[in-house]
Amino acid sequence: MCRGFGIVCEAHKKVLEPCRGATKEFIKMKVENPFNELYLKHFDIVEGRTIYLSRHGESEYNLEDRIGGDSNLTARGQQYAKALGLYMNSSGIADLKVWTSNLVRTQQTAAYVSAPKEAYAEIDEINAGQFDGYTYEEVEAMYPQEFEARAQDKLCYRYPKGESYIDCCKRILPILEKMERSTEHLLIVAHQAILRCIVTYLLQGDLRKLPTTKIPQHCLIRVTWLNGENIIDYIRTPIDHSEQGIVKSVLEDSAVLPPKGASSEKIGDSQTKS
Ligand code: F6P
Repeated sequence: MCRGFGIVCEAHKKVLEPCRGATKEFIKMKVENPFNELYLKHFDIVEGRTIYLSRHGESEYNLEDRIGGDSNLTARGQQYAKALGLYMNSSGIADLKVWTSNLVRTQQTAAYVSAPKEAYAEIDEINAGQFDGYTYEEVEAMYPQEFEARAQDKLCYRYPKGESYIDCCKRILPILEKMERSTEHLLIVAHQAILRCIVTYLLQGDLRKLPTTKIPQHCLIRVTWLNGENIIDYIRTPIDHSEQGIVKSVLEDSAVLPPKGASSEKIGDSQTKS
């Protein structure tokens, strides 16, 4: 089950560029998988246990393609929150617990779910440091070196005064352990970058693909532990949302994403961990 791999940052080898555009020296970096320490614990997960994962509904910042922040949901985001509440409340899941981040948009998204809720800063969105509140276009125009450095190595790139994806993986380790040790059914409402980390952990996926893993908005991800494997499927809602800039370009080639405004149905696309 445990792969125990470590990877070499391909971007470093290929273009001989440092992680951060501002530094000059070349660092050949071997990236250890931060999840290995948990894989080695071989948690015994309860057969049939389900963990639901959801991004927050569309936020005001999403509309403007802004990074980070702590903005409210839009009207469409609120619609998703209601739909999520309806779905979860009518699913009749006993002992459901809801975990959100400390940010307003995840708490607003979980508001209609009738279950005990806990908020954890460990699942707050990636800290974009100096670029919190910028649009991707602004970063590209004002800090082209930083923009390029992230494009070259999105996994290791650390925002100035902020975090990298690797930092996020490390930050969520206590929550992942808590998730593994608890026996209840869970709904975790979090953020794009953090859910990329959680899904990659659950699938024991390739770290290099983590920063571009598709986590569509207004779509519930259901993870069920069955016959020794995590089965993942996607439950979409017909509520439209905006994905712009880099996010949009990543999603455009997604096999998972339904066309905008498509009808609500379960997507038949399932994955299992390798
Ligand atoms: O949906 C927007 C967002 O959650 C930002 O707040 C965050 O910085 C970003 O997604 C993470 O995605 P990426 O690493 O692709 O920029």
